[in-house]
Amino acid sequence: MLQDDARTASLRAMVEALVRPGDVVADVGTGTGILAFWARRAGASRVYAIDTSDIVRLSSKVAKDNGIDEVFFLQGDAAEVELPEQVDLVFSECLGNFAFGDAMFGALSTFTERWLKVGGRRAPTSVRLYLQPANSGLFWDPLPFWRQPWHGLDLSAFCHAEENRVAVVDTVQSFLWGEPLQVAEFDPFRRPASLQLTAAWDVPEGRLVTGVVGWFEVDWAPGVTLDTSPKAEATHWSQVLFPVPHHEAARGDRLEFQLDIGFSDDEVPRYRWSGCWQAEGGARSDAFVRDSRALFSEGDNGTP
Ligand SMILES: C[S@@+](CC[C@H](N)C(=O)[O-])C[C@H]1O[C@@H](n2cnc3c(N)ncnc32)[C@H](O)[C@@H]1O
Repeated sequence: MLQDDARTASLRAMVEALVRPGDVVADVGTGTGILAFWARRAGASRVYAIDTSDIVRLSSKVAKDNGIDEVFFLQGDAAEVELPEQVDLVFSECLGNFAFGDAMFGALSTFTERWLKVGGRRAPTSVRLYLQPANSGLFWDPLPFWRQPWHGLDLSAFCHAEENRVAVVDTVQSFLWGEPLQVAEFDPFRRPASLQLTAAWDVPEGRLVTGVVGWFEVDWAPGVTLDTSPKAEATHWSQVLFPVPHHEAARGDRLEFQLDIGFSDDEVPRYRWSGCWQAEGGARSDAFVRDSRALFSEGDNGTP
């Protein structure tokens, strides 16, 4: 992640935009400690650097090796950690693919409620989600593998899992059709308990659609944005792909798509996506429903 230059530049800009001289700061999910170190160099008087991982043993050595004082590493879950004082500023690099993979929004909110001073500042400030149809067969197509005999075995039952799996893929911009649509915007410190997102695209005639691609954009601070779309400078974040039944668009065809997102207690996202095609005259066809919870369930995908 440190070698992801787009991420590094935008996070450094976030820290430099937000830290005011004398601030007491918390870096939630500090990892290697880089954001905490930058905060101290930007004039913070003290920084609490929190992480669940043993990595803090080495991060605190890096602080010593670089002569950086007043950065206090605390190992533990941000939701439970105890600080000796409240802070002026909380920030966190808390995002996974499509924002939610490996995220820690819940712990971040709890931490902030407990330790941010009234009137304190926090970052990131906003996360936006985008969707766009694609012919993923041109860069990602695992189904032929499952359909072919393999070492004398028929593995085709696993096609069901592949169809209900949200794949993490580096997509290719040239094979995305229609326009990217912003389908959600939320405050990462108040992540909604669930999201119901809808989108529809007029897909150009002759284009084959095999999936819908998703990604996020984040405002780390006012004026400091990072885009993880296939169009933007590549980052270590990939896009995600929601597979749909293959459909070659006829003239006037419109893809209607709905994505419902829920979360387990430990913040694992659960996706259900459904939709259909609407022809020029209004007739609907090729309805589908997919669900990441149905990954290893037997049989078809159910009736939409
Ligand atoms: C994406 S890394 C960011 C590391 C660093 N801040 C950076 O920007 O390079 C997220 C870090 O959050 C930590 N983390 C995840 N859940 C956490 C929690 N509930 N409390 C504290 N740290 C957590 C992980 O161990 C990981 O080091």
